[in-house]
Amino acid sequence: MSLVNEIEQRRTFAIISHPDAGKTTLTEKLLLYGGAIHLAGTVKARKSQKYAVSDWMEIEKQRGISVASSVLQFNYKGCKVNVLDTPGHQDFSEDTYRTLTAADSAVMLIDAAKGVEEQTKKLFRVCRQRKLPVFTFVNKLDRYGRNPFDLMDEIEKVLGIRSCPLNWPIGVNGKYCGIYDRRKKNADIFLHDGSHGAKQTEAARYDPKDKAFREKVGEEAFLSLFNDMELLDVAGDPFAPEKITAGELTPMFFGSAMTNFGVEVFLEEFLRLSPPPRRRPLRDGTQRYPDNPLFSAFIFKIQANMNPGHRDRIAFFRICSGIFNKGMTVYHVQGGKNIRLAQPQQFLAQEREIVDKAYPGDILGIFDPGVFAIGDTFCDESENIRFEDFPVFPPEQFVRVQPKDTLKRKQFVKGIEQLGQEGAVQIFKQPASASESYIIGTVGALQMEVLAYRLRGEYGVELVITALSYSVARWLLGEEKYLSNMKGIDNGMLVLDKKGAPVVLVNNTWNLNWLIERNPQITFLEAPNAS
Ligand code: G4P
Repeated sequence: MSLVNEIEQRRTFAIISHPDAGKTTLTEKLLLYGGAIHLAGTVKARKSQKYAVSDWMEIEKQRGISVASSVLQFNYKGCKVNVLDTPGHQDFSEDTYRTLTAADSAVMLIDAAKGVEEQTKKLFRVCRQRKLPVFTFVNKLDRYGRNPFDLMDEIEKVLGIRSCPLNWPIGVNGKYCGIYDRRKKNADIFLHDGSHGAKQTEAARYDPKDKAFREKVGEEAFLSLFNDMELLDVAGDPFAPEKITAGELTPMFFGSAMTNFGVEVFLEEFLRLSPPPRRRPLRDGTQRYPDNPLFSAFIFKIQANMNPGHRDRIAFFRICSGIFNKGMTVYHVQGGKNIRLAQPQQFLAQEREIVDKAYPGDILGIFDPGVFAIGDTFCDESENIRFEDFPVFPPEQFVRVQPKDTLKRKQFVKGIEQLGQEGAVQIFKQPASASESYIIGTVGALQMEVLAYRLRGEYGVELVITALSYSVARWLLGEEKYLSNMKGIDNGMLVLDKKGAPVVLVNNTWNLNWLIERNPQITFLEAPNAS
């Protein structure tokens, strides 16, 4: 098959959601429909597992299948589907954000009763910045859910994106019995088959114009659906594929991952409407198109083995153009060297396999002897290209760290600097401080725990960790005379990032606004200036 055909078949996406919205359940169901597993079961006891590196690892344990924690590939009706893991819960970290840079689209999962929640907002913002097409799946329709118009309204107000429902729940007062497909104009009614969603379900399909449908759902639900459709047709946003691809309109689906209801319809529509691998910007301002025959890829995640007995790390890279062939030699741009991609692994739903060939959109993992960093580019030996720098995400939690044993100073500095380089955490220094301490910024608590764990395991250093009350970081731009005489800095802290750029840490946005008002000559940025 040609490179273009291979690209057209691929869909690489991530599911974003707030914990408990049903991401694990939906992922499991996608595997079920993709034929990767045959019997899904409710994943239990996961929440007590603090170090479950990803929700998928739980699926792995529960179902006895081997699912790697970063990507999962399955085939569905001619599509090669790559689902990227975006860890939730305690393991929420910069990794979660970075994973979105390797995706071509995202599925936003929303609990029908809860609407848009905090973590969804944060992840959505990253999708927005990247102009990723976002598909909304409103989950848990089998139990009480909010009015769908309210949910649409919330998505627009809170996230700032218009939505276009492709199907619609049938029922009244938050009690739903099925969904209506606006495109095909048919209605599927929930069948309770007693398997609790363990098997694929067939829904009972009706033509809403038939008397049988009206009798089945009752007069009130029938009229309500009729009125809602009229309202949507007149006042709703028209279906506009180009707006979906541009990330300006989110197609909206309703269903229930647990009972499988609406999952297959969603999967099919998602695969039909979501884009195959897209072009990617290079640092020199040009774009790399996936059908360029020259191989290129970038590393978006490095995963250290949490087992101290195995100090191996896996670097995950996404192929952006050309064809990967096993054993090929590529140029590692940041390392300035050719390297042989000898034993890259692909993480299929059922097993880890050594792959012979892979294409744009595919994710491979290779052993990292400590030479790779997040954002690194691999390209053809004949080239020297570089993908755009990775975005830096504003950390929200800060601590001061020092080595417990001052004799371990050297290992401490080496460890912190390396882990900072790897992108595990963001490191800052106080400009005038002579003490051997660093300020560490993370977006989630687990990131800090992982840092302490790895310093102990890999560098033999125990840390003294002091929590700081700051929760907001802003990179500063301005003339030196203004920066060194910043007004109102008493309740904040000035630090330097790893490249020496000035950053201010403050307790909350109120303090931040106070600083902004008092220092009009300074620009406050959420991320370092790219130049
Ligand atoms: P997460 O990965 O996003 O955190 O969510 P997860 O899939 O673990 O689902 C969170 C809870 O929501 C689970 O219940 C799960 O069974 C339930 N759930 C997921 N999809 C649906 C759905 O479509 N309908 C209903 N009613 N519930 C759903 P739990 O009680 O926390 O765990 P469990 O005892 O069911 O495993």
